[in-house]
Amino acid sequence: MDQSGALDTLLQEDRVFRPLPGLVMEANVNPQELAAAYRQAAQDPLGFWESAALELEWFRRWDKVLDESAPPHFSWFPGARCNIAHNALDRHTKTGNKHRLALIWEGEPGDIRKFTYFELYRAVNKLAGALRSLGVAKGDRVVVYMPPLPETVISMLACAKIGAVHCVVFPGFTGKALKERLRDARAKCLITADGFYRNGRVVPLKASLDEVLAGDDLDAVDICVVVRRANLDVEMHAARDVWYDDIVRHEKPEAPTEVMSANDPLFLLYTSGAAGKPKGVVHSHGGYMVGVHHTLNWVFDIKPTDIFWCTADPGWITGHSYAVYAPLLAGTTTLLYEGHPLYPQADRMWHITAKHGVSALYTTPTTIRMLMRYGNQFPRQHDLTSLRMLGSVGEPINPEAWVWFYQTIGRGECPVMDTWWQTETGQIMIAPMPVSLIKPGSVNKPLPGIEADIVDRSGAPVPPGKGGLLVIRRPWPGMMHSVWNDEEAYLACWNRIPGCYLAGDVARRDEDGYFWMQGRADEVINIAGHRLGTAELESALVSHRAVAEAAVIGVPDKIKGELAKAFVILREGFEESDELARELREHMRRELGPVAELKGVKFRADLPKTKSGKIMRRLLKAEELGTEPGDVSMLDDE
Ligand code: WT7
Repeated sequence: MDQSGALDTLLQEDRVFRPLPGLVMEANVNPQELAAAYRQAAQDPLGFWESAALELEWFRRWDKVLDESAPPHFSWFPGARCNIAHNALDRHTKTGNKHRLALIWEGEPGDIRKFTYFELYRAVNKLAGALRSLGVAKGDRVVVYMPPLPETVISMLACAKIGAVHCVVFPGFTGKALKERLRDARAKCLITADGFYRNGRVVPLKASLDEVLAGDDLDAVDICVVVRRANLDVEMHAARDVWYDDIVRHEKPEAPTEVMSANDPLFLLYTSGAAGKPKGVVHSHGGYMVGVHHTLNWVFDIKPTDIFWCTADPGWITGHSYAVYAPLLAGTTTLLYEGHPLYPQADRMWHITAKHGVSALYTTPTTIRMLMRYGNQFPRQHDLTSLRMLGSVGEPINPEAWVWFYQTIGRGECPVMDTWWQTETGQIMIAPMPVSLIKPGSVNKPLPGIEADIVDRSGAPVPPGKGGLLVIRRPWPGMMHSVWNDEEAYLACWNRIPGCYLAGDVARRDEDGYFWMQGRADEVINIAGHRLGTAELESALVSHRAVAEAAVIGVPDKIKGELAKAFVILREGFEESDELARELREHMRRELGPVAELKGVKFRADLPKTKSGKIMRRLLKAEELGTEPGDVSMLDDE
């Protein structure tokens, strides 16, 4: 069937999608309320966020909403006492939510586990008690290195409950990347699994961890808790390793919830920046819970009867905020899937959606483009009428993918929320609301209470249609509290453009005030919505004995958005060959893990550099793509 004519009409420039009347009538925030919220938030942003905070429970109220006396450090709800786990779990066990489903989990082989709020609460309490018995205390760091399992959610919440700081590391990181994170966090405890299922195979996890923990150069990890998932034979080190089942077995299903200050750290999450080493972005209990709770309710129009499926792995910020915390804060049901979206075939996501009655689906452009390639016959085999809201995050979505998602998956009835935000922002910042007029490919406008702008290098706003740097002008509750052990990295986000948070993205605004994201302005590559710093990739390459110098750039890819391509200068005595290129790609996988996949390796005699010796990746990129270097040069120091 030829749909290209219809598609062309849908893709007409300036085509605006209007919400259906039924959706508008039932929306949590209707158009009049939204207009009023924009007005109120502009006049009194702190009052606006204070009302959002009042929707949650606090052990003690704040002395003021925001302490701005020491910028760029900001303290939300100073003086307040709270715990995000109390709001995500404890309070629901005293209401009608008690026996509502909190979590539906599906393993890749098709096994299913479900937890009501009461059941999840009890499981969390048991682990909280067990961790306390093992000596994990308030402020200790606990690294969670696991596939998406119920125990991943339980571990995060148990840490929050006892005031320990969780640090989830995506299992796609191994070797040096994992070690660096463990060392930087100085983790006392590690929670992992024997292995997991991925694309029909069992991937061992504990074994790869043992390698990392083996060296004596790591002064961390006294305790390693192992979840049995794949029935693998694993080596248990008597002084360090314990089975999850063994430690929770005799624990009581009740455990006290630590009373935290609003600004006590809840988690650190490593993300890649321009600097050589990944930075541990710190979020705290109070502001973060207000930010994610409010934005889920508003952007996804969340109702208690929803089954919310955010496909992100809990190892990324999207998983933290919208697969774990926000849906539980809202008292709705969150769905977690362990495996690969193409296993056993390209309809797995539609199968899961239909089977569990998923009503809101939040995923990435890469996933959408990948599934789109398999055609409409897969979604057509399933009843997707339970869906009422769709969402996209992590990278720019091309209008074709937007329209396919909207038409084929959403029946032309479910609005697609293209949401812009970051690990550092914690919460959604720029996005449509369900009642908004939507332009495919645009992330719409900053949400009420968020003051975003597009500026030139001196901080002056640029006119509509012109590209510039995306900045946030006022603090927002979900904002990062600090960067773990790295004040400089924190300050770097704030000091480039005075008084503003610099996102590191290039964007433009159209005549209607809609924002269009155009990619990173800094040395960060976005592969399938996963952020990788060129510096981290380059330093891993240079650790190979054949490599003298290396530069990595992102090159466009039809499915994944971007892929990493390496340019390498060899040391004296090494010859370029396909064999060596293969070896370097293998080296990267070993050093950093499968996330650090290189698309290609090119050998060169030299690399373009600035006077100060900085590699000009932008020029390499222009050369590679045969394009003009373009206006993304704003941050170069030529
Ligand atoms: C970077 C943040 C929290 C989102 C998951 C990734 C890019 C994110 C969009 C979007 C265009 C987007 C930006 C941003 N990005 N959402 N809707 N449209 N680009 O979080 O790893 O911290 O990466 O992802 O470049 O800076 P992250």
